[in-house]
Amino acid sequence: MTAARRRRYRWASRRRRSLRLLGRQPYDFPQFAVTTGGMDHRRTTVEQFTAQAPGFSAAASSNQLAAMRMLIDAAKMRAADRVLDVACGPGIVAAAFAREGVTSVTGIDLTPAMIALAKQRCAEEDLRNVSFDVGDVEQLPYADGAFTLVVCRYALHHMPDPQRVLAEMRRVCAPGGRVVIADVVVGADPAVAERFNAADRARDPSHVRAMTAQELIELMAAAGFTGCARVASYRLAQELEQILRRSASPNPAGVRMRFERAIDDQATHGLGLGERRDGTTVRFEFPVNVLAGQCPG
Ligand SMILES: C[S@@+](CC[C@H](N)C(=O)[O-])C[C@H]1O[C@@H](n2cnc3c(N)ncnc32)[C@H](O)[C@@H]1O
Repeated sequence: MTAARRRRYRWASRRRRSLRLLGRQPYDFPQFAVTTGGMDHRRTTVEQFTAQAPGFSAAASSNQLAAMRMLIDAAKMRAADRVLDVACGPGIVAAAFAREGVTSVTGIDLTPAMIALAKQRCAEEDLRNVSFDVGDVEQLPYADGAFTLVVCRYALHHMPDPQRVLAEMRRVCAPGGRVVIADVVVGADPAVAERFNAADRARDPSHVRAMTAQELIELMAAAGFTGCARVASYRLAQELEQILRRSASPNPAGVRMRFERAIDDQATHGLGLGERRDGTTVRFEFPVNVLAGQCPG
């Protein structure tokens, strides 16, 4: 076993033990078929997002109105829309779309703790056109063409097989329907991209790989969506210590070191996030692109 694997194994055992002491299940899987990512990645995802759920749900960056407005504008919503929010997390997007008065919004996510928060959020607002399911977006439990608008925010970079997820999104999208994706993107320099992806995996082992906007557009087109293009972009401001507190990082010191090195030596260690010191605070921004396309009619 390599040192990194040993560290990860020890971290996972500690985490299971502390969750047991808190009286919570380390993971609470419904009966998923094991698909391409393998059960290990699903476990990691559910463990991470069980720990992250309350912090992510409350974070200012998750609830930013200007960013949500870009998603809503990109979606060109109609009252008759049946919306699917893929990997919906705590239902922030689903609730925002439901508030717009569409016919229905369905959210689906692998992490039961996220779905519990999503239900709570929508119940508190008395939103009645929204419902949630626990499930794996690699195998959506919905009929072909069941939705007229399919959205996915901040999630594809957690998927071991984003092409498969997009194929599922295409399958459940009705002819003439629309797709909108918002995700963290990397720039064209592969070395910077790999450093960012490695740093984000160290912070949150459920991160797989952020792609370039062009890669995302090509994946959307390969799944059968047409007219795919970037329609908006923004930078999501973060403070390193804040995001570390709400991530269940196996090695926060290692993540801090990557950021410190990047700030001190941009040319060799830069992460492409505008990472910088502001007094003693380390700040950076996730670059996010909003992409949209159509389902052929
Ligand atoms: C960063 S959160 C984003 C949540 C939400 N889309 C938002 O923007 O507020 C990523 C979510 O993806 C979910 N996820 C990751 N892999 C998944 C999969 N294979 N199936 C369903 N959900 C998944 C996680 O459980 C987590 O809630």
